[in-house]
Amino acid sequence: MPDFIPVLEKDDIQRIVSTLAESISTDYKDRELVLIGVLKGAFIFLADLVRQLTIPVSVDFIRAASYGSGTSSSGSIRLTKAIETDIAGKDVLVVEDIVDTGLTLSHLIDYLKTFSPRSVEVCTLIDKYERRKSEVKAKYAGYQTGHGFLVGYGLDFDEAYRELPGIYHLKFQPKEGVL
Ligand code: IMP
Ligand code: MG
Repeated sequence: MPDFIPVLEKDDIQRIVSTLAESISTDYKDRELVLIGVLKGAFIFLADLVRQLTIPVSVDFIRAASYGSGTSSSGSIRLTKAIETDIAGKDVLVVEDIVDTGLTLSHLIDYLKTFSPRSVEVCTLIDKYERRKSEVKAKYAGYQTGHGFLVGYGLDFDEAYRELPGIYHLKFQPKEGVL
């Protein structure tokens, strides 16, 4: 069993979500906003975020799979679920759980831009800025952190721990006999 070091508690997350929702509601007032959640990790964050917004929005989902599993993005991305909403001329906000290297997001943004939206911006709950390998910037970022692998509140490790209400740093203990 790895160690779970608490990073954000349930209440911390709700405060962060409220602050983000307030900014988004102000910035996109009188616009046609489409939120595009990145499956699967963003499903809980998106569900909480929409309920704190004070403006009307439409919601869609996209899914990108990074080849291979483990704790690091391989950089090779495959789209496994396309959008189903017409975003031409509309403002798009991509909702992510966490931006790490930024490689997934930069692929997704390039894909979304082919539909000629009015704008494409990013809202991420967690911004792991130290590991960025692409130019991508999140206009809205709830919590900035450095390295470390996080789980809970939608974030998984090989599909486990998404259901945890808080966010934890997963610390792997070195195997016996291995340094
Ligand atoms: P990126 O392409 O390196 O930015 O990685 C993006 C995706 O990898 C995220 O949308 C997550 O699904 C996953 N990911 C990156 N870091 C973590 C983490 O610390 N915990 C859980 N998933 C992560
Ligand atoms: Mg994700």
